[in-house]
Amino acid sequence: MMRKKIVAGNWKMNKTPKETAAFLSGAKDKMVSDAVDVVFCVPFVDLQVAVDALAGTGIGVGAENMHFEDAGAFTGEVSAPMLKEMGVEYVVLGHSERREYFGETDEMINKKVKKALASDLKPILCCGETLEQREAGITIEWVRMQIKCGLLGLTAEEVQKVVLAYEPIWAIGTGKTATSEQAQEVCKAVREVVAEVYGDATADVVRVQYGGSVSGANAAELFAMADIDGGLVGGASLKEDFADIIHYNK
Ligand code: 13P
Repeated sequence: MMRKKIVAGNWKMNKTPKETAAFLSGAKDKMVSDAVDVVFCVPFVDLQVAVDALAGTGIGVGAENMHFEDAGAFTGEVSAPMLKEMGVEYVVLGHSERREYFGETDEMINKKVKKALASDLKPILCCGETLEQREAGITIEWVRMQIKCGLLGLTAEEVQKVVLAYEPIWAIGTGKTATSEQAQEVCKAVREVVAEVYGDATADVVRVQYGGSVSGANAAELFAMADIDGGLVGGASLKEDFADIIHYNK
């Protein structure tokens, strides 16, 4: 089974709309790929600029979060229909920064995953352990539970549309990448839990990214691992060097 790799940038809280337009108009030609699905996940206020700048390139645009209701009294929130109308294709859900700083629980994240799929948005569902959890030897157990809870109640067909992203928290923004063996071990465990709950056919199709200090220097080794189908990239996606990750096998 050949899964197409997917390399997604997660800009987090970086770049204004003007900076987005300037960066993407200058860099987009280098970011185009037939071999890899390329996605830029950007702040809400940059989404329309990104959708317009990337039109016709085949590069997708994603949001970094969304609410699980379509509309209502949720001050400050953004809904799936709003994203969809703008031409957004993906949405990052359950990033560790949302869990840690904004109190997102597995239950909320599961509702968001369901809403995204019902709205024809492709969720990028994140999981990952803290350093303390890794040192305590509970990484696999923890990540299995995050995946089970995040995907709870979905059909196998729906799970196939989800992108799963394993991001060890200790490797995010630290320059400390998981070794390719460490990343492979957990990405394999993620695929195994999908197989247990949704069957082998679904586990074969679902894409599992690694995230955490991915760079042009380590992407080729990470993406060569059997269960790693690309990367979710923070810091390096803000620069033109992101192209080195997209074209990791050149
Ligand atoms: P860095 O690539 O900056 O470590 O960030 C990873 C990440 O959190 C992507 O979602």
